Amino acid sequence: MENKILSLIHYGEAKLSEAGITSAKYEAEILLSYVLKKTRLKLYTDIKGFIPQEKEEEYKQLLGERSKRKPLQYILGSSDFYGFKFKVNENVLIPRPETEVLVEGVIDRIVNCFEKKISVLDIGTGSGNIPISIAKSSSMVDIYAMDNSAEALEIAKYNARENGLEGRIKFIQMSIYDDYAKLKEKVGHVDIITSNPPYIPTEQIKDLMPEISEYEPRAALDGGEDGLEIIKKILLVANGLLRYNGALFLEIWDGQKETVQSFAKKYFSIDFNNDLSGTPRVLIAEKRN
Ligand SMILES: C[S@@+](CC[C@H](N)C(=O)[O-])C[C@H]1O[C@@H](n2cnc3c(N)ncnc32)[C@H](O)[C@@H]1O
Repeated sequence: MENKILSLIHYGEAKLSEAGITSAKYEAEILLSYVLKKTRLKLYTDIKGFIPQEKEEEYKQLLGERSKRKPLQYILGSSDFYGFKFKVNENVLIPRPETEVLVEGVIDRIVNCFEKKISVLDIGTGSGNIPISIAKSSSMVDIYAMDNSAEALEIAKYNARENGLEGRIKFIQMSIYDDYAKLKEKVGHVDIITSNPPYIPTEQIKDLMPEISEYEPRAALDGGEDGLEIIKKILLVANGLLRYNGALFLEIWDGQKETVQSFAKKYFSIDFNNDLSGTPRVLIAEKRN
């Protein structure tokens, strides 16, 4: 007779494949490890253990949720980003590997261009993945993290505490469309602004994978008719808040480079960093006057 753990993995793999999930076996293993509180490797080396009925039921319930295309990270309640762990739920975007390119660029700049303590503002902070990764990598920064969602900021504050950064990041609940003078009063001039804003054109959201279109917060995705609404506003705000020699690191979507470039070059000297697939992903806009 097949070992119980193996038979549960095969059951999960079949169920997830049926739901159209490509990495079905891997995800079945992850869900079973989560329920049994064992590493994936231990699933295969500790195969003789007894599996209580309630654990089997919990596993099957999670498979059911995943089969409805709820993202794995929301089921597990966490996501890895830049080597750190972040709590996530349906109030925050799941941090993406592409955004690590942005963080990498910021950390390089902090190390290479500044000798004194600097200030950083993250606009649309979500789970807090960007400011937390920066603060973990450099003590030479004062960081502000802003979002208009109170629920997202709760998660970001939790993540800051869990990552040992209590008191290091100042959280601001505000919309980028609110009174600019109020934001300026709170943060003053800053050396670096980071943002991974909502940049998907409204009409295209429904065509994305169900994990995104049905589960991730609409406010984290929707960039208005052309996807560039909030990006244009961020460029204006950045022009006002950045110090001379300061820089905006802004994540953009596939195909937005040309338009973003034409807006940004009015105010900044610009460059782009590519993601791992070679797509221009991060605008680096330096303030030169
Ligand atoms: C694409 S998510 C990015 C989250 C996180 N920084 C990341 O990289 O995973 C965009 C974030 O912007 C926030 N947001 C949307 N509209 C906003 C606005 N008008 N003002 C401030 N934040 C906004 C959303 O709540 C969401 O958390």
